[in-house]
Amino acid sequence: MSESAGNQPVSRNIVRAEGQVSGADREAHFGHRAVTVWFTGLSGSGKSTLAFALEAALLERSVASYVLDGDNVRFGLNRDLGFSPQDRTENIRRISEVCRLFQDAGIVVLTAFISPYAADRDQVRAIHPEGAFIEVFVDTPLDVCEARDPKGLYVKARAGEIPDFSGISAPYEPPPSPEITIDTTQPLDACVAHLLAALPLSNGPRR
Ligand code: ADX
Repeated sequence: MSESAGNQPVSRNIVRAEGQVSGADREAHFGHRAVTVWFTGLSGSGKSTLAFALEAALLERSVASYVLDGDNVRFGLNRDLGFSPQDRTENIRRISEVCRLFQDAGIVVLTAFISPYAADRDQVRAIHPEGAFIEVFVDTPLDVCEARDPKGLYVKARAGEIPDFSGISAPYEPPPSPEITIDTTQPLDACVAHLLAALPLSNGPRR
């Protein structure tokens, strides 16, 4: 199999096609900014719960949004990937391209991936326009996630039944300067209100 060098396509015979409608046109049409809201945190930290609650709140406000969830994406697009460092990086790389497509389409895309490596998250930021990537650190301590253990995975990881488990036998690198930090010991409604107030969704110059 041929390898692509860096960020270039494997084939040299690829030329970008330009449409007539710009991202700015789509944002003007929908009446809100298109951004990627990237939730990162340990398994059980509350990423999916927050993202789905925010999606519902945005729908009520006529904001077009969509959740990409780690477990869900691993049933389809990324069903060939496991949890080695290489596979996690490829997981996030593919998702980053999907996010960029959604964002360009005018959608507020909400993601719920552990995304444990800071460098991978920085790559997602790098392919977005300035201000269109919002990193949200779901800052739930490991002991709280482990006590919640909604899928029973921490028990299995401690018993050695799941290798490379984030926070137990694989690393999680907290973001050094996320745009937003969420304390999930607060009620869900308060977390969603915090997100709605902090997200730069109004049309106008990007903050
Ligand atoms: S990521 O690290 O590549 O970003 P992702 O968010 O897609 O992870 O998937 C994490 C989910 O897969 C967890 O919420 C959990 O349900 C499940 N999972 C299964 N094995 C592992 C593992 N070894 N480490 C972390 N999560 C795992």
